[in-house]
Amino acid sequence: MAQEPRPLVAGNWKMNGLAASVAELQAVVARASSQPPGADLLICPPATLIARFAEAAKGSIVAIGAQDCHTEPSGAFTGDLSAEMLKDAGATAVIVGHSERRSLHGETDDTVRAKAEAANRAGLTAIVCVGETREEREAGATIARIQRQLGGSLPEKLDGIVVAYEPVWAIGSGLTPTASDIREVHGMIRKYLTTQDESAGSKVRILYGGSVKPQNAKELMAVANVNGALVGGASLKATDFLGIAAAYS
Ligand code: 13P
Repeated sequence: MAQEPRPLVAGNWKMNGLAASVAELQAVVARASSQPPGADLLICPPATLIARFAEAAKGSIVAIGAQDCHTEPSGAFTGDLSAEMLKDAGATAVIVGHSERRSLHGETDDTVRAKAEAANRAGLTAIVCVGETREEREAGATIARIQRQLGGSLPEKLDGIVVAYEPVWAIGSGLTPTASDIREVHGMIRKYLTTQDESAGSKVRILYGGSVKPQNAKELMAVANVNGALVGGASLKATDFLGIAAAYS
């Protein structure tokens, strides 16, 4: 069996954080430096804080990422940020296709794939998000839905990408799928990836996201083919974020 990829615990701060929040990041950096977890750490603050956070985390084991990018490297796209710009600001990764972008900004699988390609082009790790709605789960359509999203959203080259399975109904709700439901979806994602590319696909980290907390992290992270977490609300507090990462201590 292929070796398990090194886990990644990533925080998605969403539209939260001001300059003063650098103190929270510094707390993560300080604690992670003195007690390094057995996982890579990534914090994705709002774009306004990327440069500041990258500076504060420099030389530490904490990497800084972005939450979205445009498909083009530059041009007349008022208000948008390219993957190249995010890299220039200090990001090493970018989340693409988060369900909030898909539902609130009308992003299609095609858009998400183009954004993942843009991340690859710029040398950023693309974290490609997929996940079913409550209706899809109740209709027994989860596996088909995720397969369709993978087929439409993944870039051509899988090397270095990350996939995040985030059931829409689990985000911010306090609800999580059962361990066996997560095992089924993550197993299918792994199979899909290795069928596309045996070598690269076995190295892709598959994160689980949706109501991950310090209290449930150990159980969720123990599921086969769960190679880390994509954490929303609980990533805003250094103690909670590190409490989740401690599942890998
Ligand atoms: P919560 O951890 O707040 O449920 O959010 C998950 C998420 O959307 C991370 O991208």
